[in-house]
Amino acid sequence: MILTAIAAMAKNRTIGVNGDLPWRIPEDFKFFKDKTTGHIMIMGRKTFESLGGPLPNRLHVVITRQNNYEPEGAHVFSTIGDALDFCSEQTDSGAWPEEVFIIGGGEIYKQMLDSTDRILLTEIQREFEGDTKFPEFSSEEFAEIDRSHREKPVPFDFVTYERRD
Ligand SMILES: NC(=O)c1ccc[n+]([C@@H]2O[C@H](COP(=O)([O-])OP(=O)(O)OC[C@H]3O[C@@H](n4cnc5c(N)ncnc54)[C@H](OP(=O)(O)O)[C@@H]3O)[C@@H](O)[C@H]2O)c1
Repeated sequence: MILTAIAAMAKNRTIGVNGDLPWRIPEDFKFFKDKTTGHIMIMGRKTFESLGGPLPNRLHVVITRQNNYEPEGAHVFSTIGDALDFCSEQTDSGAWPEEVFIIGGGEIYKQMLDSTDRILLTEIQREFEGDTKFPEFSSEEFAEIDRSHREKPVPFDFVTYERRD
């Protein structure tokens, strides 16, 4: 199993505000859809609720401390370890591809950073006000291996980081 975090982050590391994204960038939505379709996605309960329901053609693994949380279309776990064990079973059996996406939010990116192999980070070159941040990580831990610039609707880069061996 390869764990890839996928996120869009402002210059001040903001990723969310009031349970939503602070921006609308259609090309980034498309990027997210193209990367995650056909894969398992791991997320915190708040991010799952921000989706407004399960997205097509993806397996939703949701982490919550609530006991009776049983939304339609999601596999729910009370610890990150249990969620990862379930994902390993799914990928080892060949039911789902090896690359599993961590799709947020801030709490989950942070707690899973040490297990993250790769980060697909959309770096928006502007500051946004918000209440949720992407965790700091160092260039000693992760190497930038690809960067592709876009100008509209705001300047941003699609950046790929890989964990150093
Ligand atoms: N820009 C981006 O790429 C991006 C991506 C994803 C999300 N977001 C934004 O980020 C915000 C949501 O992020 P967030 O940090 O507030 O919430 P989150 O990480 O999505 O979910 C937090 C919830 O996950 C559960 N949880 C967290 N750690 C756990 C653990 N160790 N064990 C069991 N359950 C655990 C808890 O659920 P319970 O409270 O149910 O116990 C907790 O309240 C929204 O604004 C969203 O739009 C942005």
